[in-house]
Formats: sequence, structure tokens, C-alpha cells
Amino acid sequence: MTAQIIDGNAMAAAVRDEVKAEAVALKAAHGLTPGLAVVLVGENPASVSYVRGKEKDGIEVGFFAATIRHPADITQDELMGLVRELNQDARFHGILVQLPLPPHIDAEQVIESLDPAKDVDGLHSTNAGLLLKGGGRLVPCTPLGVQQMLLRSGHPPEGKHVVICGRSNLVGKPLGALLVQKQPGANATVTLCHTGTRDLARHTLQADILVAATGSARGITAAMVREGAVVIDVGINRVADASTKSGFRLVGDVDYGPVAEKAAAITPVPGGVGPMTRAMLLVNTLRAARAQARVG
Ligand code: GUN
Repeated sequence: MTAQIIDGNAMAAAVRDEVKAEAVALKAAHGLTPGLAVVLVGENPASVSYVRGKEKDGIEVGFFAATIRHPADITQDELMGLVRELNQDARFHGILVQLPLPPHIDAEQVIESLDPAKDVDGLHSTNAGLLLKGGGRLVPCTPLGVQQMLLRSGHPPEGKHVVICGRSNLVGKPLGALLVQKQPGANATVTLCHTGTRDLARHTLQADILVAATGSARGITAAMVREGAVVIDVGINRVADASTKSGFRLVGDVDYGPVAEKAAAITPVPGGVGPMTRAMLLVNTLRAARAQARVG
């Protein structure tokens, strides 16, 4: 079987077009411009690049988007003070604090200091709790992106067995909570595997839809994938590659080549889940702006 390649770049471009059209309509009908503040602490090269992309996306779809940069030695109190200021700043409907934060900062405390209505990452306890109960408005961007990729590629999760590898608060846990909901676009049977799972392959081989979010380069091998499964690769790992100028290249958590020969559909890395995660940040910002302005 040759897998259908689920093109995250093309899908993300379509989502951006939809958001842009909605932003134009919001402006025309209500004079409202969605605003996104991205907080960057320090100069972690991957974070700098992600944040630049997020601001650029926001500006391109007609949002008011700004990056607020702080040196790596900012104190906990200063950072939480900044978040509180942004909570009060009516220009911004969404606030994203780029992770990871430096080790002297308690990231949990920073997340909890966000106004849940502006938490476009969906990480605040209020949003995590609402998602679990089924009424979540701001759902973390990667799970939303994965759900949209399944729907838009013609592989709706309804009634399917979705096996998720990875239990992070950013991906695995919220994705499980999202796909298990008794709602259109979800209603799946979910198995959540993690580092404590015994005989991982026994579970992954049962998957109609297999989601890899382990953080381990190419750890999901062809022997772990059922013929005809849909494979979603959330991973992004640097591996040494002397043939490239930078000396490394990006690979996912799935052993792409051999798995693509067995799967019905697969997301590439790069160009898969990553661009859709970015696009869903725009969707969440639009949603947050509408809710704060009470316009739908
Ligand atoms: N770092 C890597 N992924 C993410 C994300 O989705 N949100 C934030 N805030 N930081 C990240």
C-alpha cells in the first residue's frame, strides 16, 4: 500500500485563508481586530523561530500581533507581572507564552496566571478542565490541528480506535480528551499509551488511527503499525546528518519510509502537524476575540 500523504502545509494555508476571511468580516461588522501577544523569554533558537512564525501568521491574516521579548534572566515575579498586564490589555485577545521557559521559572505558575479567556494555548487548568468535561472553548493547538487533519483528509475519528502514544499536557492528554467527546468530529475509542505501557506494539497494532507524540526520533516502526492504519506524527526531532549544511535534519517520532509503505495515510515531518498547530493558534485567537467581544 502506498500511503496518502496528508499535506499539513496545504491544509494550514486553507485554514489561514478561512481565518483571514473571518477576520475581515469581524472588522466590517464589529470594528474588531483580533489581537495576539506572543511572549518569548530568552533566545532558544527553536523558540525564536517558532515565535517569529506565529507573529508573521497573525499579521498575515489581519490580526494585531506582537512579540514581547524578555531576557532569559527575567524573574518569576517580573514574568507573571507581564502576563497580568497583558491580561488587562484590551488590544490582545490571545496570549501565548512560548515554552519551554528557563529552568528557574515555574512554567505552571505562569500558565495559571493567564486569564483563561485569553489562554489560546488552552493550557490553563480552567481550559483543561472544561475540555475534559466537553465544553472546552480554547483547546490546545496541536490536538485541534490533529483533529482537523483527520477530518480534512477524509479520515474522521468517529467510531475508530485511536491509539495515542504520549501523555503530555500539551498533546497526548488533551488529544485523548478531545477525540473521546460525544461530539461530531470526535466520538472515537481512545487508548492512551505512555512510557509505563507494557508491550507498546500490542496496543499500536490495534490502531485505526495511530498518533505518535513520544518525543523519540523514529521510535514508531513499521512492525508497530497495522496495514491500512492512518498515522499522525506529532514529533519533531533533530538528528545528525552530515550531508546537510546545518549538520542535522528534522525527523518525526515515526520511521516514515517503512511506515508509509503500510499505512493508508501519513503526515510527513516537516510539513505535517507543525503547520496545522500554527494555524490552529489563529483559530483560537479568533475564537477568543469573538468571545471577549461577545459576537458569537
Ligand atoms: N513550545 C512547543 N510547542 C508549544 C505550544 O504549542 N505552545 C507553547 N506555548 N509553546 C510551545
